[in-house]
Amino acid sequence: MSDQVRAFLAVALPPEARACASQAVEELRRALHADVRWVPPENHHLTLKFLGEIPEDRIDALVARAGAKCASVAPFEVALAGFGAFPSAREARVLWLGVARGGAALAKLARKLDSAARVAGAERERRPFAAHLTLGRLREPARVEIERLAPPTSVAWSVSEVVLYESRLAPDGARHVPLAHLALGAGLDPSTNEFAPES
Ligand code: 2AM
Repeated sequence: MSDQVRAFLAVALPPEARACASQAVEELRRALHADVRWVPPENHHLTLKFLGEIPEDRIDALVARAGAKCASVAPFEVALAGFGAFPSAREARVLWLGVARGGAALAKLARKLDSAARVAGAERERRPFAAHLTLGRLREPARVEIERLAPPTSVAWSVSEVVLYESRLAPDGARHVPLAHLALGAGLDPSTNEFAPES
């Protein structure tokens, strides 16, 4: 049997967005008195599709299938927004930053990648996609008064690729190792922005 790799597809953050997310974590740390496992800054990202454990020998097929989907989508703008909590601020388990712009484009991309991921045996996502950047996870669900916090100064950037990451679990947390970079819009005709598959 092929070795298994724990993997996910995500949008990586440029330095300004990383700084924004780190600043947001500092603000939450100061404001909340909850037992939170904070995501280390180097692990901040916008998840598009969690693949779980997939066979290592399916990675090439996944990269080809997901890469073709990415090639058919034009680069788009994302802007980070304010704080949110899953499932709710009253019983928060996950603290995150939302997106003010680009949510629909991220959702569309996530849907395409969800379908591409079948080639690696990943399960289909059953929950509706909600774009978010996870900042921390509470050890026990708690009420968090995030609605009183001012959102960090928003940053926007152009998303031009999706990254396939391996998530290596270790006692001190996960390490995310990029396995492949999938360019957006590589299959589009630059004059029309229409999908122009190579003949
Ligand atoms: P999220 O933090 O954006 O919700 C890598 O593990 C990423 O995959 C996590 O940051 C998480 O994204 C996402 N993910 C989704 N479902 C998951 C699951 N069942 N276990 C671990 N990670 C999951």
